[in-house]
Formats: sequence, structure tokens, C-alpha cells
Amino acid sequence: MTKKNSLSTKKTSVKRTPTETMALTADTKGSLPSGQRCIHAFSLLGAQTEKTAVALLSNGSLFATQMDDDLVKLADVLRQGDWNDSESANLISVLFETFEKGTTPNVSSMRRWVLAHPNDVAKVKACMNVIPPDGIDILEVKTDVGSQKQVFLAVWRLTQKQVVLKQILAVGDAGAKIQTREDRAHPLSIDHKHVMKTYRETNMRGERFNVEDYMSGILSDHSRVGGLDEAANLLFHLLDALDCLHNQHHLVHGDIKPDNIGKIEDNYVLLDFGICRPAAEFTPESTPTGSLRTRAPELILNIGYPIDPFKVDIWAVGATVYNALLGRFPLFKLGEQVPKVFDLKSRAEKEQELRDRINSQWDEFVKLQDIEEPIRSLLKVALEKDPKDRWSAEKLKAEAKTTLAQFLRLGFEGADMSKPDEAQKLAKFLPDLDTLKLMPRGEKDKMVSYFRDLESHLKLKDSANNRITKLIHELA
Ligand SMILES: Nc1ncnc2c1ncn2[C@@H]1O[C@H](COP(=O)(O)OP(=O)(O)OP(=O)(O)O)[C@@H](O)[C@H]1O
Ligand SMILES: [Mg+2]
Repeated sequence: MTKKNSLSTKKTSVKRTPTETMALTADTKGSLPSGQRCIHAFSLLGAQTEKTAVALLSNGSLFATQMDDDLVKLADVLRQGDWNDSESANLISVLFETFEKGTTPNVSSMRRWVLAHPNDVAKVKACMNVIPPDGIDILEVKTDVGSQKQVFLAVWRLTQKQVVLKQILAVGDAGAKIQTREDRAHPLSIDHKHVMKTYRETNMRGERFNVEDYMSGILSDHSRVGGLDEAANLLFHLLDALDCLHNQHHLVHGDIKPDNIGKIEDNYVLLDFGICRPAAEFTPESTPTGSLRTRAPELILNIGYPIDPFKVDIWAVGATVYNALLGRFPLFKLGEQVPKVFDLKSRAEKEQELRDRINSQWDEFVKLQDIEEPIRSLLKVALEKDPKDRWSAEKLKAEAKTTLAQFLRLGFEGADMSKPDEAQKLAKFLPDLDTLKLMPRGEKDKMVSYFRDLESHLKLKDSANNRITKLIHELA
């Protein structure tokens, strides 16, 4: 958007009714004065749009004179995007107000926003109202305003890469505090494959933004993991992220839930560090953070953060994986909704209901029997009611590394590939048995013990695993 003159519309000439204007435009189309061309183009969207256009664009309107071609193009795009009459009329008014305030709307960008948000003036306005950091163009509103940020899908102009642009809504000290927390996810702070990389940017006005790779696969409460393989990877990746956050950085994320988890290729990635802070800042008196859906029982019971506040993240990871498998969060019924934060009464009632469930219906709600092993045992220790009994990220990750090895598609640190992949490769490329038998005894023993270790991780019976088992038998 560019700054324009300070003149405003002057209505000096004769006023025509919409019908007269239509007649005029229909007669002389092609050689019309600027305002008439726009009015003609807008009139094709309906009577209300025409009326608004006549009011704002006729009689030598500066708006029409300066934006003539652009407005004609915009009218075409509105038609292309199937905008209805009343929303088209609203949009012209919004554009006019913007122009009157001294900013010339950038119609080539508007084209994208109009097509991305049919009949949604609020979203188009949200795109118009943001001045992005240099080198970034806004494509569309990605989510309605979250609790802390407004998120846009945007493009990094240099490489045409899609990114998300997050505008922190709070200003002043409150905004700076959130930015400090978001900076934890800057790759100079944490560089981990299961933690979103967040870059900070400012625009020409010094307003704060964060920029991230765009992930198409953000989870939701309705995302289901297809079978144990996927659940195992989701659990392991989140534990891996938490192990890094908790043990290397002493940070509590504080807001783990499906919509704060995305997927890039095969990796689940934790995002939204707006609440994340050092564990020392979570005291028993701190106000509980995060969604009720994944909130740990000790926080719902108002006991406060445990001595070891990392345990609230562990519960949240357990609850997220539980929901991905069973379609409900552990303390919730199937399809049960959480009242909005501003609905104080319903919210207080729901919290009381959850307290009752924790105190007297725990076994009815936190049921694990429908979850298959080995995930069940891991979720059991992640979803312990007492945080003292709940396992740490380090311990859980170590256990998961062994018990989930058969499902993990990606190698964990230090390994190039997963155990099933390793077995497949060996089965394919190892020389035949007669050649292997020629190996020196010591080398053969080492190989057998390596195969045995591999076999202990492989519970799925497939041809690769059979070959490993056979080789152990033949060579031992
Ligand atoms: N990198 C990304 N790629 C794709 N979508 C994203 C990305 N980051 C955020 N989103 C989407 O935007 C939503 C809000 O982003 P984020 O969680 O950072 O903001 P928030 O205001 O803190 O949200 P909340 O409502 O959880 O407090 C996410 O739940 C997700 O749907
Ligand atoms: Mg979020």
C-alpha cells in the first residue's frame, strides 16, 4: 500500500440514480469517464453494489479517478470469486474508507485476498490492514485470531516459498514478553527437528512478527492416527522434542495440544512457544496455562504446578496421543466441547465437572484397555494422575526408543535408519550364507550378536526379519 494525497472526494456534479447511471454506462460503454466505467463494472454484481458504487464513485470522485483501472479489475475479480451483492458493496465501502484515510489499496494484492476469502470482508480487511515485513507478501488469513496471534499464509518473495506470518496481537510490554517466549523457538536458541523454527521480523513501523515454514499438516482434535505406526511416531517425536526442551533448556512448553503440532514430511513438529518459559517460572501459585483438553489433573484440581513442572507437558503429550487414537481426550467424553474462555460460567461448570471426574470417576475416563501395546504401557506412565508417578521425558523417550523401535520410520539420533529399514537393507544386500560362513569366528560372533540385537527390536514378521532370524540360526 502506498501513501497518497490528502484530498478527499468532492461531489460537485449532477447526481444520477443508479438506473440512470446504468443507462448511461450501457449506452456509452468504452468511452466513459472513469467513475462510470467502475460503476458499470460493479453494477454487474447487483443492485446494492451498484448503489454503493454510485454513491462513492460518481460525480468526479477522486477515488474513482485515481483507481479507475484497478477498480474495474477488482469488480471482475469479485465476479470471478462469486462474491454476493451485499458483501461486494461492503468491500467497496471498506476500500473507500481506506482511501479516504490516505492509503491507496493495492489492488493486485487484493485480487488474491478476494479470491481466497469469498464473501468475507473481515478477512480481506485483515489482510489489507497488515504491513508485512520487507520481502514478504500476504496471501490469505490462515486462522482466525488465536489467543495471542493472527496468522497469515504468506510468501517469502525471494524464493517464492510459502511461509506463515504471525502477528503478535499484544503491544508494549505484553507483546515483548510473548516475543521473548517465541524466540525460544528461534533456531539460534533451539535447533531440533521436532521443534518448529521461528524467525523474528519487524515491518517498517517496527511492529513485531514471527515467520515460519508453512506446514500443511497441522493436527486438529479430529486428526486420527492411522494405526500404531503413526501413533508411535507421533509419541516418539513429541517426547524427543520435550526431552530437548526439558533437559537441555529447562523449559516447559505449557501449551501442547493437537493444533500446536504440525507435520513436515515424516516429522511431527511442536509449535507455538507463546507460553513457553523456564521451569523455574512455574510455581504452585502460577495460573495454569494451556487448553483444558490437555491440562494435567493437578492443574485442574488447582493443586498448582508440581515441584517438577515438566510433568504437565508429559500429561499433555499423553492426552494428545490418546485423543489421536481414541477420538477423545482422557478426561472428556466423545464429542464433548470445551466452553470458550470468555464464557466464564460454562467454563467454571466444566472445570468442576472435570474435578469430579478426576476425584471419583478416574478409571471410567482414563481408560487404556482399548489401546494396543506397546503404546498402552507408555501412555499409562504418561497419564499417571499423580505427577510424581508420571515419567519424565527422558525416561519415557528411552523406553519408547526400545519398545516402539519396530514402528519408528525415522532413525533416532546416532542411527541412520529405523530398525525395520535396517533389516530390509541387510536382507537385500548381505552376501549368501556360504560366503558369510567363511568369515573369521570372532567377526561371525560379532555379526550374530548384532543380528540378535536387531531381532529383539523386530516384532513384525516379514521376509526381511525371517532372513535375519535364519542367519542367526545358521551362523551361531
Ligand atoms: N508454521 C505453521 N504452518 C501452518 N499453520 C500454522 C503454523 N503455525 C501456526 N499455524 C496455524 O495457526 C494456528 C495459530 O498459531 P499459534 O498457535 O502460533 O497462535 P496462537 O495465537 O498462540 O494460538 P492459540 O490459539 O493456540 O493460543 C495454529 O493452531 C495453526 O493452525
Ligand atoms: Mg496455538
